[in-house]
Amino acid sequence: MNIIDIINKKKNKEILTSKEINYVVENYMNDNITDYQMSSLLMAIVINGMNEAETFNLTDAMIKSGKILDLSGINGVVVDKHSTGGIGDKTSLVVLPIATSLGVKIAKMSGRGLGFTGGTIDKLESIKGFKTDLKTDTFIKNVNNIGMSLISQTEDLVPADKKIYALRDVTGTTESIPLIASSIMSKKIASGADKILLDVKVGKGAFMKNITDATLLAKEMVKIGKRFNKETIAVLTNMDYPLGRTIGNSLEVIEAINTLDNKGETRFTELCLHEASYMVSMAKNIDIKSASMLVEEAFLSKKGLEKFKEFVSAQGGDINKIKVEEDVIKVVSSKEGYVRDIDSLNLAKLCNDLGAGRKNKKDVINEKVGIRINKLYGDFVNKGDILFEVYTKENLEIKELEKNFILTKEKPQDIKIIYKIIK
Ligand code: URA
Repeated sequence: MNIIDIINKKKNKEILTSKEINYVVENYMNDNITDYQMSSLLMAIVINGMNEAETFNLTDAMIKSGKILDLSGINGVVVDKHSTGGIGDKTSLVVLPIATSLGVKIAKMSGRGLGFTGGTIDKLESIKGFKTDLKTDTFIKNVNNIGMSLISQTEDLVPADKKIYALRDVTGTTESIPLIASSIMSKKIASGADKILLDVKVGKGAFMKNITDATLLAKEMVKIGKRFNKETIAVLTNMDYPLGRTIGNSLEVIEAINTLDNKGETRFTELCLHEASYMVSMAKNIDIKSASMLVEEAFLSKKGLEKFKEFVSAQGGDINKIKVEEDVIKVVSSKEGYVRDIDSLNLAKLCNDLGAGRKNKKDVINEKVGIRINKLYGDFVNKGDILFEVYTKENLEIKELEKNFILTKEKPQDIKIIYKIIK
């Protein structure tokens, strides 16, 4: 077997065998296959695709490059959740404690963010004292005692994905459904949960810009999950606008706490309750309607908030110590009308420039900076109203910032938050 034949096969739209895929991953990991050969193969995959069996075999080969987390010491059904990434996506911080308060076990490994803002782990680290590098036995003990624990991804969790993803990032080979699906699912399967909920974001602020592509990705990931005998459900959700009102690490943690306290933004709260219901339905093997009733009750009685406090304190954090930037720029509207559009991507890039996210792996995040949105899609704005606030010490051009909001005379149509469910 040799890599040139394998590249040629994929170039000629042929199907790679499981032996060939294993050969590629193993030899790329021990440096017998070079970066330029791997890039060439990845580009052939981007252009000619992979069928279901090839995608499964690639996922499997990547999992075998590292260790599978052993969660057999946990009593109960462990459900994992993954979001393909959104702007202001603090959903996990709300969904997981609500699901846990109803008996779902959460033992989650989360990556650090390389993007507009930090990932879930970075967000949690904006809580003073919060530890994300627990030893495996403490991690398992916390899940058994409290019901949930979140730690940062260990080095041996799918090392092949780390190496291949870094190469894809710099060779124009990120946009491929089989490559994205195998990258995400290899990490989910290796994380050891029994069942998986996927939140596939769709829209202007997401990887997947339209429902057709998002559906293909979701179907591919659900199929992979099932082939590994893990019940997997994907929820396709709207990512045209930032989630909730905030973008930025500590601001998002505070918003998640307020949401758990039933003081959150309506659409974001609806999304979280929906996702929590799917997790409960999977863990308890009950229908979604019964699960939603349990979730609604747990939410209204603030069980999720109590669980969040317990979880944070077990990992050394103090929720009364979350710092946000004291200097705030208020962006005031010079016009009136309904908010018809928000340039979510531009706001996210602004947060990234302020230091809320990483441009390079080694960048240090400023957890205190970010944005709070005052006027959401569909809200009426009077002249002089605050559109949004930017938490930063930097001087920014307010006239330019105002351009991120488009107002119209007519009230825009309501938007859908959840597009569809793929099982
Ligand atoms: N997230 C991942 O983990 N991998 C991809 O390829 C894309 C998004």
